[in-house]
Order: sequence, then structure tokens, then C-alpha cells
Amino acid sequence: MQLTDSIGRNINYLRLSVTDRCNMRCFYCMPKEGIVKRGHEAVLTYEELQLIAETAVELGIEKIRITGGEPLVRVGLTAFLEKLAVIPGLRHLALTTNGLKLAEMAAGLYRAGVQRLNVSLDSLKPQTFSEITRGGDLGRVLAGLDAAEQAGFPPPKINCVIMRGVNDEEILDFAEMSRSRGNSIRFIEYMPAVKEEGWQRYCISGEEILQRIEAIHSLEPVDKGPFAGPSRDFRIPGARGSIGIITAVSGHFCSECNRIRVTSTGQAKGCLFSDEKTDLLPWLRPPDRQGLAAALRHIVSGKPERHEISQDGYSHTNFTMSQVGG
Ligand code: 5AD
Ligand code: SF4
Repeated sequence: MQLTDSIGRNINYLRLSVTDRCNMRCFYCMPKEGIVKRGHEAVLTYEELQLIAETAVELGIEKIRITGGEPLVRVGLTAFLEKLAVIPGLRHLALTTNGLKLAEMAAGLYRAGVQRLNVSLDSLKPQTFSEITRGGDLGRVLAGLDAAEQAGFPPPKINCVIMRGVNDEEILDFAEMSRSRGNSIRFIEYMPAVKEEGWQRYCISGEEILQRIEAIHSLEPVDKGPFAGPSRDFRIPGARGSIGIITAVSGHFCSECNRIRVTSTGQAKGCLFSDEKTDLLPWLRPPDRQGLAAALRHIVSGKPERHEISQDGYSHTNFTMSQVGG
């Protein structure tokens, strides 16, 4: 079965958030004081998340990425993933983490059937890393990357949000990492998720990031597979890892968008930047598979053609990336 939206995009990818809590406080993602904690009853149970996953796969979703907040802080995650991994028809199970707990958890995640990890890592300098994350320990994340490979994972993909004046001097260091460590690096344009006066000063376009790398390295384009999503990928010749850019702000990639999102409180979204969402709770409590399937189809058919975010004229409502899972 295939899920197709109103303009013919094949929707095969679900991002499923299991918590909006996090053990870091990246300044571009969360306010200093953190987010208002939801009561436990607001957060979907693993059974409810499983029902969403099963229903989505029945409809045509083939790839699920587990996100947060930080998914590894939720108790019982590994056992949940074991059940997800065996859903018939699910071809790819991936997880995005900030890596802080990866050293302890990598082996269990691998055994549970997670196939790929993405690790968010914005600086290779302990001090800068700690400033961006408001206290995160870079050493733990690097230990987590090693542990992931020891556990059997391919080198995790690195998500790196580049911000002018914060970490843009490290673009070449990250590019080098694709060669020296073999991780694929995805540079993400900073998005104004936390409304802050003067957010434009951090913006640096994917084009500029590429130009800075190309001033030193030749880059060859890399073909992408059907699940690749919206990044444009390149490679330094001979490097194991690729280098990609996600131009969320400067270049619309909406025409290639293949995903839907569900938050940990059961809000389904067709677009990260849209205020529109569908509450799935009425079909979860009590469980109603058919109703849930119809609600997910509704989200797909209502997927906007494109978003309206841009560097000059963006009037956005405050949304917290940790609630939507990036
Ligand atoms: N701009 C760009 N990327 C962001 N992420 C979270 N908040 C933002 C933002 N404001 C990224 C994280 C993570 C991914 C899930 O989303 O760094 O890698
Ligand atoms: Fe946590 Fe990720 Fe948000 Fe950073 S970007 S605060 S690691 S959820």
C-alpha cells in the first residue's frame, strides 16, 4: 500500500516522538528553564505509540524514526523498540539522539533492532558544546559514537546545526570528520524555533556552508535512496561519510517532503512549520484502529504544499522543537 498526498508525494516516513523531555537544553531548541513538563497521563503509553506505528505501517509507512525531546531518557525504551522492530512491513527503524546516554545504551538499541542512529552534535570543542547545550558533556557524546560502532551500528549520522558566530568556524572540522571517522555529516540551517530577538544573526545558508567546504575540498554529489529525505549530499573523494546540507530556511525542499510527525502527546502533524495538527487521542483512548487510520490519512491529505518560513518575512508562532522532534 502507498500513502500519497494531495500533490502526489509518496509519504513513507513517520517521525515518532516518545517524549518531549530532554537531558540537555540547547539554546536554539529550548528556553533556559526547560519546557513545561506534561503530566504523565498526557504522554502516550508505549502501547498507544505501538498502535500508531502499526497503523501507519499498514497504511504504507516504511520507515520510522524515533525522536524526542531526547528519546533515550524515557524509561523502558529498549523494550518498546524491540516490539516496533518486528512490525511486518516496517523496513527501516532509526533513532535520533543527543548521544549523552548512548555509551550505556548503544548495545541494547542494536540488539532491539534499531538499524541506524543519528546523533545531534553541534561542536567538537568542549566549551562551545557546553555553551550551545547549556551544560552538555561533549566527552559523553563522543564516547557514545564509539560505543555505537562497537555495538555494530554503522557510523552514526551527525546532525549539526550551524550558527554564525557560534560554531561556523568548525564547518571544516566536521567535514574532515566524514573522512577521518567515517560519519556522514548533515549540516542543518538554524531555524528560529525559540523566538529570540535578532535570530537572523545566526543564520548561515547551506550554500555558504558548502562554499566554505569547497574552498578547501572538492565535493562530489552523492545519489540518494528513496528514504533519504530533504538533504543534498556530497562526498569528499575517498571519504567514507558523506556531507549533506538541509536548507530548511533558504531553500524550500517541500516538494520532496516524504514525512509526517506524531508528538509524544499524540498530535499528528503534516508539516514541521505548520500550526495545523490532528489530535489522535480520541482514537487511542479507547483504541480504535479504523478511526486512527482515517486520522492519519487525513494528516497526509492535508499536508501543505510548502511552508512559508524564510529569513526576511517569517511570522512564526513559537514552537518547541523538542515537542515535535525536529
Ligand atoms: N534549528 C535547526 N535544527 C534544530 N534542531 C532542533 N532545533 C533546531 C533549530 N532551531 C535539530 C537538532 C536535532 C534535530 C532533531 O533537530 O539539532 O539534530
Ligand atoms: Fe534536547 Fe535535542 Fe532540543 Fe538539544 S536539540 S535540547 S538535545 S531535544
